[in-house]
Amino acid sequence: MTVRINPSILAADFVNLQRDLEVIASADLVHVDVMDNHFVPNLTFGPQMVGRIQDVSPIPLDVHLMISDADRTAPEYAELGAASVTFHAEAATDPVALARRLREIGARAGIALKPGTAVEPYLELMDEFDQILIMTVEPGFGGQSFMPETMPKLTLLAAEARRRGSDIWLQVDGGINESTISQAAEAGANTFVAGSAVFGKDNPALAIAELRASAQAHSH
Ligand code: DX5
Ligand code: ZN
Repeated sequence: MTVRINPSILAADFVNLQRDLEVIASADLVHVDVMDNHFVPNLTFGPQMVGRIQDVSPIPLDVHLMISDADRTAPEYAELGAASVTFHAEAATDPVALARRLREIGARAGIALKPGTAVEPYLELMDEFDQILIMTVEPGFGGQSFMPETMPKLTLLAAEARRRGSDIWLQVDGGINESTISQAAEAGANTFVAGSAVFGKDNPALAIAELRASAQAHSH
């Protein structure tokens, strides 16, 4: 099975971002965490910065919006050319309408669920999305510990995707490293975000290759 490894630039050096984007050119997409200090208690950057990342990145953008009022702001990220735009279920008033709007603009539409948000309502809506992101930590910060109790959500999603013959991207984000990636792959994830486990290493390209090999070995 094809797996995707998406390094999170939250763990990159913000004043050497172009250099760090080149370092991860062997990855699939670059995971870009937008935080507004309202939906989550942390602040990163907005559309102007993401637009510049889009200009210089050798690989496509996987934008993860941790912002309130997603209905209003998410389309802007699709318009600036991001390949994938993921908003939080908890921050959107009409997730299906928003996903349709993102697709119309030309982006893959993703929906993210915090650890405490149930996945069941989204099973029957699966075809409306190109990616479902199961948060494996509380969103807001890098470097937290993986929450294995979120894995049953992936098992449900993977079974539903199989039933439908869907090739939807099932993404995990938070605490993914060389020891936790196997669990997530076994549960059914096929798209893996890793911040500290890539940029925290002396050789990020090697870390990407190792994460990819492990995910592939444990996916089915
Ligand atoms: C957390 C962000 C993650 C973060 C992951 O809210 O959504 O993308 O960068 O960082 P690690 O891989 O270090 O847990
Ligand atoms: Zn993220």
